[in-house]
Amino acid sequence: MTKTRIIALFNQSGGVAKTTLTQNLGYHLAQKKKNRVLLIDLDPQASLTTFMGLESENLTKTVYEAVVGEEELPIYPELIHGMSFAPANINLSAAELELVAALMREMRLKNALVPLLDKYDYILIDCPPSLGILSVISLVAATHVLVPIQCQFKSFQGTDLLLRTVASLRKGANPKLAIAGFVPTMYDARTAQESRTYQAIKEQLSPLATVFDPIPKTIAFADASEARLPLALSSPKNPAVSVLKKIASGLEKLP
Ligand SMILES: Nc1ncnc2c1ncn2[C@@H]1O[C@H](COP(=O)(O)OP(=O)(O)OP(=O)(O)O)[C@@H](O)[C@H]1O
Ligand SMILES: [Mg+2]
Repeated sequence: MTKTRIIALFNQSGGVAKTTLTQNLGYHLAQKKKNRVLLIDLDPQASLTTFMGLESENLTKTVYEAVVGEEELPIYPELIHGMSFAPANINLSAAELELVAALMREMRLKNALVPLLDKYDYILIDCPPSLGILSVISLVAATHVLVPIQCQFKSFQGTDLLLRTVASLRKGANPKLAIAGFVPTMYDARTAQESRTYQAIKEQLSPLATVFDPIPKTIAFADASEARLPLALSSPKNPAVSVLKKIASGLEKLP
């Protein structure tokens, strides 16, 4: 039996493709070698829940019940494009306040995953764009953090704070947290500033962890999420599909 890799897709910056990558990398992992994959939406915006084709307002049980109520993690009864899924909704926005005084609150997600470790090879957690408690409980539960970075200078600057956050978790609640890698996203090689930023990302971050091939900028991702589909099902010939596949293969080689 292999050890479950629990990968938090984390970047405190908004709109860098965390959710898009969670869904698409989960899909490719589930396609290969019949990996058992669980995706968890830990963002009160519930974008992943929408991308997976669920109406978040209609859900009676979400990750909120697991994180705040310490109930079992509610997993949607059917596989969605080959993946198991634990949805979120706006209730989760209250978790931050409701957990303020909770004992061992940073363990809440980790504890909820314990009974699931035999059932999954990969658990991918879609973090919200913040450094608040929901990101902290994800990083405490995770074995690895995968960092999407937009190929723009401003976004790249935020990685200092991100790396400090990972370092402080390693010193405290999760000493074994490993960086699975950095994924440059929304890359337009024709834009000089973006290719400079991509070069800088490669130079400065590859000593720390793998810098994966950049995901090209393409409107096809927005079309795919509107159709509630992974890119490989909505635009199978899009060049970004092979990049996603290659990153998924890289995740299979993680220690
Ligand atoms: N490679 C890409 N090229 C063009 N658009 C992309 C690409 N990847 C993602 N997008 C689009 O960018 C937007 C933001 O993506 P996404 O929701 O995945 O980011 P996020 O980091 O999860 O955002 P948030 O911080 O709000 O949770 C979406 O409209 C998505 O379709
Ligand atoms: Mg998101």
